[in-house]
Amino acid sequence: MNQENRSIFNEDYSKSYDLIYEKKNYNDECNRIIKFIKYKKSVSNILDLGCGTCSHSIILSKYGFNIDAIDRSEKMLEIAKKKIEKKKISNIKLIQADIENLDLKNAQYDVILLLFNVLGYLKKPYLFFSNLKKYLKKGSLVIFDFWHESAIIQNGPKKTKKNFEKAEVNLTKISQGKVNQKDKTIIINIQTYEKEKNAVITKNEEEHHIKYYNIESLTLNLINEGFKVLKFEDFENDGCLPSKENWSAYCVSKYLG
Ligand SMILES: C[S@@+](CC[C@H](N)C(=O)[O-])C[C@H]1O[C@@H](n2cnc3c(N)ncnc32)[C@H](O)[C@@H]1O
Repeated sequence: MNQENRSIFNEDYSKSYDLIYEKKNYNDECNRIIKFIKYKKSVSNILDLGCGTCSHSIILSKYGFNIDAIDRSEKMLEIAKKKIEKKKISNIKLIQADIENLDLKNAQYDVILLLFNVLGYLKKPYLFFSNLKKYLKKGSLVIFDFWHESAIIQNGPKKTKKNFEKAEVNLTKISQGKVNQKDKTIIINIQTYEKEKNAVITKNEEEHHIKYYNIESLTLNLINEGFKVLKFEDFENDGCLPSKENWSAYCVSKYLG
């Protein structure tokens, strides 16, 4: 993980994560993933890297896949564990590890997922792809979403302030990003305030360093590592090419073995 990213997704931010992303459409995203997965004839096991609180894995588990889900953040995994137990799901195994230093004995997967910009958090993404190969079979898929450079150049980061309310919790999230073009990184300062009867009870601040990628360079690097890029798609628009309007894009790639 990026040196700067070591202490993020800490207790307070993780605790608020599912509320902040309550409206993120994990169901539609999983429908999309299921479509992508069809590029492989038969899929029995999946590795979800940077699984967070496991919102994708929980939906995908309904299809009967055996899922190993890995995250570095103890707190995110604690929340994932509670959700999995509550739903009595038996086909997701949680593992706490740094995905840039994976050591999964003899494991090989049909599909590896990195969802919601997990690739952006990595310190050495190309070395990461190289290391990932031992967990892939010939024809396995690696599916991820990422921020792409041309959209970021066209449409830089804006300061946002959002409010989230549920039961007793009233949360405000303020994010502000700045672009570091030299490192192709966006440094995002995220402040969250949890309030009770208008008094702030907890305040948290994290700085996330998130890499963005040039699609042509990413393609070349994937090819060099033995992958075929099957498609890049706009994150918001099913079946469409990445656009300059949306930072996020999907990549579906196949390991050629
Ligand atoms: C934006 S969250 C995405 C979580 C989840 N995939 C989702 O869609 O809700 C990024 C996740 O990646 C994890 N992460 C980032 N770098 C990591 C690393 N090097 N090893 C393991 N987990 C990492 C973080 O802890 C965090 O849970």
